[in-house]
Amino acid sequence: MLEVQQVITAADSVAKALKDKVEQHTARVGVIGLGYVGLPLAVEKGKVGFPVIGFDINSARVARVNAGDNYIGDVKDSELQDLVHQGILTATTDFSRLAECDVVIICVPTPLTVTRDPDISYIAASTEQIAQYLRSGQLITLESTTYPGTTEEVILPLLTKSGLQVGKDFFLAFSPERVDPGNKRFSTKNTSKVVGGVTPICLEIAYALYTQTIVNVVPVSSPAAAELTKVFENTYRAVNIAMVNELMLLCDRMGLDIWEVVEAAGTKPFGIQTFYPGPGVGGHCIPIDPFYLTWKAREYDFHTRFIELAGEINTEVSYYVINKITRALNEHNKSVKDAAILVLGVAYKKDIDDVRESPALKIMELLHGWGAKVSYHDPFIPVVEPHGGSTVHLESIPLTDEKLADADCVLILTDHSIFDYDHVVAKAKLVVDTRNATKEVKQNRERIVKI
Ligand SMILES: NC(=O)c1ccc[n+]([C@@H]2O[C@H](COP(=O)([O-])OP(=O)(O)OC[C@H]3O[C@@H](n4cnc5c(N)ncnc54)[C@H](O)[C@@H]3O)[C@@H](O)[C@H]2O)c1
Repeated sequence: MLEVQQVITAADSVAKALKDKVEQHTARVGVIGLGYVGLPLAVEKGKVGFPVIGFDINSARVARVNAGDNYIGDVKDSELQDLVHQGILTATTDFSRLAECDVVIICVPTPLTVTRDPDISYIAASTEQIAQYLRSGQLITLESTTYPGTTEEVILPLLTKSGLQVGKDFFLAFSPERVDPGNKRFSTKNTSKVVGGVTPICLEIAYALYTQTIVNVVPVSSPAAAELTKVFENTYRAVNIAMVNELMLLCDRMGLDIWEVVEAAGTKPFGIQTFYPGPGVGGHCIPIDPFYLTWKAREYDFHTRFIELAGEINTEVSYYVINKITRALNEHNKSVKDAAILVLGVAYKKDIDDVRESPALKIMELLHGWGAKVSYHDPFIPVVEPHGGSTVHLESIPLTDEKLADADCVLILTDHSIFDYDHVVAKAKLVVDTRNATKEVKQNRERIVKI
């Protein structure tokens, strides 16, 4: 692993002063984008005493932070309230306050455009704001997931327009966020973090910053290496999930149970990591980030075939779920048309309140298109509004015995821990289970169809 060289000398007075402030926790930290990544990060920094200003264009979010009103599951309500009441953490929509910050961390969205190209407009907009108020002695780090090259090809030129010099007057690094929402074991603090600086001095200061709040910081030789590391991690998941999803399609043809096979293979104590099949991939990372790399690779006349294939299979499985429901209803002498289908769980994964890119959106839309009467229950998602390519607009209905019994098919799309699966199967006529959530259910198993 790369060693962080201690290259700052007394002659580098700007860098030295900033590093000292970072190590003494007196540096004022600005966090741009107070979402799933930014708010937990702002709280982590505030907890060790850094004064923090959160910046967001969403004034409702800013007002909630300033009221100590938490909206992110991974943040503890009491921690946010304490920091706000002590005046350590404050939020604003006024970007001129960036001038007050010694450190600015960018955590804005990086989606795809409608043509599935990287949309780095949020990063560019944030950088324009920073550039306007850039001053000597600031460290800027980007945490948003993006393609290799973004920090040095997009951010750096915008910042150097100011006439200030990187590595001397201001400092620039990339350090990808690895947060896993809903993960009870790994949080921002105990998840190791990779960092790459534009110059050795940039790396030294950025490394100093992250080691104040994160247990293990892993330096790499450049921002591009850190950018690619993050995209590789998400591609690794996308490809392995696709592989097991493809095996699921084959198992269906062969009359084998994919869940049994995956669990049996997982007992091998070395050489295998268990990935589970499902109704498709969702969230802000797995379905999106690999395509940032695909796009960049084209510049090098290179085709990322694993990524394309994984994307194809992970999309295909959502259609396979419809096929499975159709066959299951057929066994009950029912067609999809006019069937009452009650979806359990629409979040992209269990126990979280995030519906972005969730396969449930596509599946509900397809079912609706086939003439099914679709309703859903998800205690974490009170309403699904049209967004991205999805036109679904539904509200979560209360989960009553009547609704379970009335449904022609109860479709489990997200295996939230809160659901009582014994009860669901006891009351439902037919359950199509895309997550093997009912594996412990003993009674009435003939009602369950697994994908
Ligand atoms: N959510 C995750 O699990 C996760 C994990 C690792 C990495 N990431 C990456 O982190 C980045 C942020 O993701 P997120 O899930 O926190 O997004 P999010 O949508 O939850 O939050 C982004 C916030 O940025 C704000 N914003 C947008 N444009 C802005 C601007 N110009 N100035 C200031 N604020 C602005 C939005 O209002 C929003 O509050 C993305 O690149 C994502 O890929 C996310």
